[in-house]
Amino acid sequence: MDSPIAVIGGTGRVGRLVTRQLLARGETVRVIGRSIRSARRYLPPQAQFFAADVRDPATVRIPLYGCAAVVYTVEPGTDASGPDSPETTLHTGVRHALDALRATAATPHFVLVSERHVTHRDHPMNAYGRMLDWRLAGENAVRDSGLPYTVIRPGWLTDEPGHNHLHLEQGDLGDGQQVARLHVADACVRALYAPAARGVTFEMRSEAGGAGPVPWEELFASLRSDDTTLARGALA
Ligand SMILES: NC(=O)c1ccc[n+]([C@@H]2O[C@H](COP(=O)([O-])OP(=O)(O)OC[C@H]3O[C@@H](n4cnc5c(N)ncnc54)[C@H](OP(=O)(O)O)[C@@H]3O)[C@@H](O)[C@H]2O)c1
Repeated sequence: MDSPIAVIGGTGRVGRLVTRQLLARGETVRVIGRSIRSARRYLPPQAQFFAADVRDPATVRIPLYGCAAVVYTVEPGTDASGPDSPETTLHTGVRHALDALRATAATPHFVLVSERHVTHRDHPMNAYGRMLDWRLAGENAVRDSGLPYTVIRPGWLTDEPGHNHLHLEQGDLGDGQQVARLHVADACVRALYAPAARGVTFEMRSEAGGAGPVPWEELFASLRSDDTTLARGALA
């Protein structure tokens, strides 16, 4: 891409994989996070680190300025109130990033890492600071932003090997499935270069088996656009 790609949460476990993959593709990568210590520990020297906090809109304006794409992979706290609450990190923070992008003439592709189950308010995960409600609100802000976007809803994240058979699903119907962080990072990166991954929301799970490379183009091509899905009321 001609301009930098921002990875918000790029010092985290998924974010680091995204950052390294983008750098390997020759992209300029701006990593946004709060901890300089994590940046020193986890980021390769080619990554440009910006100490910023999505809860403070003034801090994200400069690192997001002029970016061609953004990957948002921020982990919330689990208390209903307080500085790390899901509301502040999964909804307000997303809105701050979108506002910063909208303040410029650019229309970057926004990839949001969300979570399976967001449309199930009675799911046990929603007991943690209404995490699912705020994730869905963040998703809706992205879908309503007018920017090109991809919303990715992983199941439970794992770093264990062997989860090589990947499935993309829609409709938020499945339950309790794991997915490898590596596949989630792959999806974030591949989505930036795949027209079929624009304007879609999908769940991810992976299971044992599945030797060989993931057929990303085929998987993305099988997805329905949110225009179609929203018309059926299946997202919210
Ligand atoms: N764990 C699961 O099973 C699961 C399931 C579904 C979805 N997810 C989601 O998948 C995503 C990636 O997960 P992960 O395991 O890679 O998370 P992680 O390792 O905990 O990384 C989270 C990242 O978020 C950054 N961050 C947190 N608060 C921030 C703030 N206020 N401003 C800027 N950056 C902030 C952290 O950096 P600093 O601390 O330096 O700010 C870190 O880089 C997260 O959104 C997570 O909620 C997780």
